[in-house]
Amino acid sequence: MPIYTDLNTSERILMGPGPSMVRPRVLRAMAQPLVGHLDPQFLELMAEIQELLRYVLQTQNQLTIPISGTGSASMEAALCNFIEPGDEVVIGVNGYFGERLCDMAARYGATVRRLEKPWGAVFSPNEIEAELKKKTAKLVALVHGETSTGAMQPMEGMAEVAHRYGSLLLIDCVTSLGGVPVKIDEWGVDIAYSGAQKCLSCPPGISPLTVNDHARDILRQRKTKVANWYLDLTMVEKYWGSERTYHHTAPISMNYALREALRLIYEEGLEARFVRHRYHAELLWAGLEDLGFTMHVPLEHRLPPLTTPHFPAGLDELTIRRRLLAEYNLEIAGGLGQLGGQVWRVGLMGYSSCLENVTLFLAALKSLMK
Ligand SMILES: Cc1ncc(COP(=O)(O)O)c(C=O)c1O
Repeated sequence: MPIYTDLNTSERILMGPGPSMVRPRVLRAMAQPLVGHLDPQFLELMAEIQELLRYVLQTQNQLTIPISGTGSASMEAALCNFIEPGDEVVIGVNGYFGERLCDMAARYGATVRRLEKPWGAVFSPNEIEAELKKKTAKLVALVHGETSTGAMQPMEGMAEVAHRYGSLLLIDCVTSLGGVPVKIDEWGVDIAYSGAQKCLSCPPGISPLTVNDHARDILRQRKTKVANWYLDLTMVEKYWGSERTYHHTAPISMNYALREALRLIYEEGLEARFVRHRYHAELLWAGLEDLGFTMHVPLEHRLPPLTTPHFPAGLDELTIRRRLLAEYNLEIAGGLGQLGGQVWRVGLMGYSSCLENVTLFLAALKSLMK
């Protein structure tokens, strides 16, 4: 008979592209006793989560909910509810997650029009307009924080262009939410989704989604059923809306965790949180440059929660990454997709964005590079 020992995972310093480190308060919240998914105590907690999500997303959208699943589930919900077979969809592809959006949208029968840019570059409203001028589209999708490149897509003017041509604007703010401003209402974004395990510093498994009234109307006018039962918002919203009727069993402990992670953000305040992320990112950038690294993304469009440095010539990047984990208990990640082997992905997200982590990482790196 094999022997299965108690779980004994290391307390890693998580400085990769997610998951980020989780505050003990969040882990303690997860250990609270279970209540049922229709228990009055749980219904109250659901309302609080929705309020806190609106705060973090800077939106009044009534349909603001956590999807039961990781960021990709929310991504899927954001697409499948608004795409009907044959719909034209314009997707900005300037990194790995733009590719994933294309893949998913096509699976729901969309005619996908890829708007391509080099990985690390961002789109301008004029470029979106030029595409929509050629032919209108039901939806325009952009990745706000590209975790594969470390670029942050400016959002000013994007909704204005999309709306002028009758398109919905959808954004992926998986890596940006809670680390840099995400102003859903001010930007005029119609649909946005995120993830829990990045700048919200909650374990993966639950993911925010917000949909404004205009997009909700379009959902209601669909001619065909949403092709994904689990993520069909016309049904899910009955659980998260005023009816609170069963759709699927909510992941109770994940909701406890999300509530606590959001409560921590509320206590810190959004502005203070953004300043903290920026401050530690700038320390990291300066320290890496001193060691001979160059940043993949120009300063103007750099995403503070996720940095993508190119290595100095001759650096054995894989050995250094392995030694960081083995000797310093510190995780960073290699490049993804076409940036594989070219950059690292160093995250300073949520609870991981602190002076101790930046200092340890730079000191460890310096020592390993000798
Ligand atoms: C920008 C972006 N979008 C979507 C996802 C997918 O989220 P998940 O891996 O939680 O399913 C990720 C995950 O890293 C991401 O960084």
